[in-house]
Order: sequence, then C-alpha cells, then structure tokens
Amino acid sequence: MKTEKFILDPTCGARSIWFQKKHLWTLYCDIRKEEKGFITDRLNFEINPDMIMDFRDIPFEDKTFKSIVWDPPHLRNLDKESWISKKYGSLGPNWKEDILKGFNELWRVLDDFGVMILKWSKSHDNRKNRDVSTAEILKLLPVTPLFGHPSGSKMNTIWMCFMKIPGEKKWVKFH
Ligand SMILES: C[S@@+](CC[C@H](N)C(=O)[O-])C[C@H]1O[C@@H](n2cnc3c(N)ncnc32)[C@H](O)[C@@H]1O
Repeated sequence: MKTEKFILDPTCGARSIWFQKKHLWTLYCDIRKEEKGFITDRLNFEINPDMIMDFRDIPFEDKTFKSIVWDPPHLRNLDKESWISKKYGSLGPNWKEDILKGFNELWRVLDDFGVMILKWSKSHDNRKNRDVSTAEILKLLPVTPLFGHPSGSKMNTIWMCFMKIPGEKKWVKFH
C-alpha cells in the first residue's frame, strides 16, 4: 500500500500529544475507533483515526515514512473496564512479542535516515506491578536510541529518539 503522507502516528488515540491534531502530512492510525461517550465520565473523549491499523502488521511498503511517533500502551495488569485501560489500551500477556513486532514493523516502514520517537510511561504508583521500566524496553528493542530521557530518569513520561542509519549496529550500555 502507498500513501502521500510521510509522517506516521500508528497509535494516535485521541491525538493528545499533537499540537496540530489534523496535520496535513500525517497519517493517524489506531487499532480501534471509539465514539464520543464510550468512557462515561469523559464524554468528549473519542478515538477517530484516519485508518484502523495494527502496528504489528502494517500494510505499507518498506521505507514509506520519514518520521514516526509511537506511543503504545505501556501499562500491564490493568482491569479492562478501568478508564485508564479504555483510554490508553493496555499491555497483554504477550506484550514483549507485541512491542518487538511493532518496533520491527515500524522500523521497516521508516525511511533510511528517518526518525522515530518512542514515548514510554511509568505510573505514579507501581504497587500493582503495572510498569515496564525503560531499561527493560531498551533491552528488548533491536536498536538503541540516539538520545532522550535516560533509563534512570525520574520522569514518568519518557521520550526516546531513534534514527534509521543504514548498517548501524545496536549498542547498549546500562548503568
Ligand atoms: C497510550 S495510547 C496513545 C495516546 C495518544 N498518543 C494520544 O496522544 O492521545 C495507546 C494507543 O495505542 C492503541 N493500540 C494498542 N494496540 C495497538 C496496536 N497493536 N496497533 C495500533 N494501535 C494500538 C490503543 O488503542 C491506544 O489508543
């Protein structure tokens, strides 16, 4: 499949991260569409992607996009009926496989020298064992980011920047 758009948001949700919610050259995708009112105490919240797409199986040709911003679900062990799960989705039992498949698919559709931004988050309270640490995500991914919030960051929301540099090898050093 081809598209004129050259920026991809594969997990757009409600597009809250976007300053321009209908950017001309961006393709906004999500695995689901949800009408306003599906979260009863957040009546204006809706998920309205340009295209329904699963980031584990992307129908576009290799190297289609110049830039990708990926904000996958990042919490596990959530009650499916909770507002947080309805709003942001949740990681399932095969989350490692899902995240890796997603990364590999997104890397495939990213152009050479293209940039991918990955957003990851921790909850304020990990008593229910919901969080996946940044270090664990970095260990899982086949490519190391160039820069971003470091794995020991105290921030709850972490942004990491990857560039698809042909031939570059994974390099990981944790401390
Ligand atoms: C953390 S939310 C994204 C929030 C969004 N960036 C925003 O600004 O509002 C994660 C989104 O990923 C979607 N999602 C979960 N699994 C997916 C998959 N396999 N493929 C595509 N989207 C998926 C969920 O439906 C959810 O809307």
